[in-house]
Amino acid sequence: MVSAAQRTLAWISLGVASVLVCIFPLAASSRPPENPHAHFTAPETCPRCHVNSRGEADPGRYSAGISAFCLECHRKENLGRTHPVDIRPADRHANRSLKVEIPGDFPLDEDGRMTCLTCHTAHGLFLSSEKTFPSQRPEGPTSGGGSYYKTFYLRRSSPVRGFATLCEACHEKL
Ligand code: HEC
Ligand code: HEC
Ligand code: HEC
Ligand code: HEC
Repeated sequence: MVSAAQRTLAWISLGVASVLVCIFPLAASSRPPENPHAHFTAPETCPRCHVNSRGEADPGRYSAGISAFCLECHRKENLGRTHPVDIRPADRHANRSLKVEIPGDFPLDEDGRMTCLTCHTAHGLFLSSEKTFPSQRPEGPTSGGGSYYKTFYLRRSSPVRGFATLCEACHEKL
């Protein structure tokens, strides 16, 4: 026999369950996803990228191990566009498209070499209300009714011209 108390309990759980079902899909679509690089702001992480001077992370000096740090979590095969890193733009080999001046906001490491962070920001935004490239789809609507797009943490991009603006910081038209 099912007692009245058990039946009441069953109804209550059903009620709770339906409330949860109603709330969670909404919550999931109205809240933009968290920045997956939030751990970069943990004090013990600073020296993975910044050279320490006088016991503090030096904001203008970058360690040589940055790309290896990124590859602790990202697989080489999943980087999308590939680009050589660890090369020194100052060496300027055969690539005739390369400009002489690398813009100052494209940081090189202590040895003057390109790292992943030459193109990607470390403290930049994960999401933006502006598209990173023309055909980009939004991450989903937010509670405010706006759309958010992944920035891919790129130092340059354009809703009209996409990644070309990034490449053109260093290369003549590729
Ligand atoms: C993943 C690598 C990385 C980590 C981890 C990191 N930084 Fe940075 N930091 C950079 C780079 C690259 C820049 C240049 C600007 C950018 O990329 O956002 C920078 C810029 C800065 C600046 C200059 C101001 C600015 O935002 O441009 C300060 C100050 C700074 N970092 C402090 C820190 C401190 C303190 C920590 C640890 C809590 C830290 N950083 C962790 C790579 C890193
Ligand atoms: C502790 C793990 C971890 C480290 C270290 C790390 N990342 Fe990430 N990164 C993630 C996760 C998780 C995401 C979320 C998307 C994903 O799973 O690819 C992400 C996203 C990204 C994205 C955007 C991709 C997208 O789909 O929006 C880029 C670009 C990126 N990382 C570059 C870097 C670079 C460059 C470094 C080194 C400075 C780095 N990551 C270090 C975990 C990490
Ligand atoms: C020359 C500039 C440049 C360098 C150097 C570079 N990237 Fe990127 N990266 C890009 C661009 C542009 C995109 C977005 C286009 C794409 O996904 O193909 C991207 C995309 C990514 C993504 C997201 C891929 C996806 O489609 O979800 C990750 C993760 C990433 N890069 C990590 C890295 C890591 C780790 C390194 C260093 C080993 C690195 N990048 C070096 C320009 C660069
Ligand atoms: C910070 C400057 C910088 C940026 C930004 C940059 N590059 Fe480069 N690129 C270089 C340097 C340096 C080389 C090596 C040139 C050499 O040694 O001849 C290079 C080489 C290349 C090569 C020759 C590849 C090879 O394997 O030798 C291609 C292709 C290329 N870049 C495409 C791109 C594209 C596409 C983008 C934009 C997503 C881009 N680059 C952004 C600096 C940059």
